[in-house]
Amino acid sequence: ANVDPLKIMISGAPASGKGTQCELIKNKYGLVHVAAGDLLRAEIASGSENGKRAKEYMEKGQLVPDEIAVMMVKDRLSQPDSQEKGWLLDGYPRSLSQATGLKAYGFEPDLFILLEVSEDILVERVVGRRLDPVTGKIYHLKYFPPETEEIAARLTQRFDDTEEKVKLRLHTHNQNVETVLSLYEDITIKVKGNAPKEDVFVQIDTALTKLLEQKKSALAA
Ligand code: AP5
Repeated sequence: ANVDPLKIMISGAPASGKGTQCELIKNKYGLVHVAAGDLLRAEIASGSENGKRAKEYMEKGQLVPDEIAVMMVKDRLSQPDSQEKGWLLDGYPRSLSQATGLKAYGFEPDLFILLEVSEDILVERVVGRRLDPVTGKIYHLKYFPPETEEIAARLTQRFDDTEEKVKLRLHTHNQNVETVLSLYEDITIKVKGNAPKEDVFVQIDTALTKLLEQKKSALAA
């Protein structure tokens, strides 16, 4: 029999580095990265009714209603690739009802990663963030500037990446984080996210390696 694939949740304040760490985790462990915010932005881009509704909440930095968020995430986790390779759920759940909603469909994580970053750093990370629409890569004007002029010319900025909007997002995060954390206390690792991204990844990598070893020995026993 094969080892049961990894099922990971990653959480943290806006711009704490979730997407950045997910790129590194995906590259090493081959998990399917499911980012609630990316699914919502794809829904907006498709022009659907759900997308239009979602955007109203996202512009205010508030949580999109459960009937949109829960179904969207559940559908993505049910796809064959997530089932076969394992999943890395980014930015979900953000409330008690989202956690119970997903659990009702049988999705439960092995590990809950919390990225801890001080608030003064978050604003700087948000306003400097840029995205490459071609590769999906996340850049930062100061910390990870684009490699070439060609890439620099095509970088885009998210509509909610202003200082004013990130403060609203942070407020929403602070209101909900304790409730969500209390649900996953037994499987949570807290990661120091103020460090350079490679150092942050070392902390996560160590935990994932250990978890995989535990799964392997459980299978052999
Ligand atoms: P979402 O897209 O999830 O946004 P967020 O939680 O605010 O997080 P971000 O994507 O802004 O940041 P990140 O932690 O991924 O940081 P990144 O790696 O890019 O959600 C957007 C909105 O959608 C929400 O406000 C809500 O309305 C809605 N939504 C989403 N999920 C929902 C849900 N479950 N239910 C209901 N509504 C939902 O890094 C940020 C920057 O910092 C980058 O420029 C990066 O290069 C840089 N950086 C990263 N790491 C480091 C480092 N170690 N050192 C220096 N710079 C770094």
